[in-house]
Amino acid sequence: MNLEVDLGIKISNPFILASGILDENGYTIKKILESGAGAAVTKSIGMEERRGYEPPVVYENDPVFINAIGLSNPGIDNFGEEIKIALAAKKPVIGSVFGKTVEEFSLIARKMEQYGASAVELNLSCPHVNGYGMEIGSDPDLVNEIVSEVKSKINIPVYSKLSPNTSDIVEEAKAAEKSDALVLINTVKAMAIDIKAKKPVLSNIYGGMSGKAIKPVGIRYVYEIKRELNKKIIGVGGIENINDAVEYMMAGASAVQIGTVVYKYGKNIFNKMNNDLVNYMIDNNIDNIDELTGVALK
Ligand SMILES: Cc1cc2nc3c(=O)[nH]c(=O)nc-3n(C[C@H](O)[C@H](O)[C@H](O)COP(=O)(O)O)c2cc1C
Repeated sequence: MNLEVDLGIKISNPFILASGILDENGYTIKKILESGAGAAVTKSIGMEERRGYEPPVVYENDPVFINAIGLSNPGIDNFGEEIKIALAAKKPVIGSVFGKTVEEFSLIARKMEQYGASAVELNLSCPHVNGYGMEIGSDPDLVNEIVSEVKSKINIPVYSKLSPNTSDIVEEAKAAEKSDALVLINTVKAMAIDIKAKKPVLSNIYGGMSGKAIKPVGIRYVYEIKRELNKKIIGVGGIENINDAVEYMMAGASAVQIGTVVYKYGKNIFNKMNNDLVNYMIDNNIDNIDELTGVALK
């Protein structure tokens, strides 16, 4: 039985820790890799240290989870040591990168490569400096420029993480076509109101929704992009159990990332996912994990 997935780098099983969950610190990343994750994506790292927004930064009312952390991170120059610590688990560590300009993306990606990252993931959901209030992903020319520049400067695989908050995700995916894989989806823009206080819950007013409530949105984007572009896709959004992961693979994903549910079940979710996948493959006579990718496509 083969659980190995080829994403430009080989990962031993299709379950990857998603960006932003217990991954700003090398030791926690290492622990999660040792607990069965096939690979881990780091917190998105920018040029400089950022503290993020004031609390409250999270709203939780199962199945709804909304966060507005504000891309808090230690800055790329302080992150090399964390990658080194995480790599001691001897599994791929994928460096997530965000920037305000093409140059920032390029510089941070190059540093990630120098630090030993196995691949980089471009977080294209951050605010676009010139397009006020808009995300970078909403500007296909800029997406194309960022991906081309980063691809030309580093030798490790480049993944592009797309935002569902753009008017046309197919355009965004086409603009990122030079990537080695597309990562779908980032959080869905949302908000909640505290009706007693008569004001928005989050200090930033708007946040990004994750967790099982967004799974059908993620499935739809993976399916649609796989059908349109036939690129390698890493599915993410609301995966809580093996059936959710299989659903993403049948929609077209080659691997999946797991985020919010790690808060709920802890890092042991990765071992459970692996065991449940093996049982699923035995029950369904599947020898190779690749056989699942895109089987539901029409
Ligand atoms: C608290 C929190 C922080 C996140 N931070 C990042 C981030 O820094 N970069 C990024 O690309 N995605 C970030 N995400 C989005 C996740 O990587 C993922 O795309 C999203 O949560 C959907 O997956 P899930 O439902 O399994 O959590 C964050 C999500 C959460 C809940």
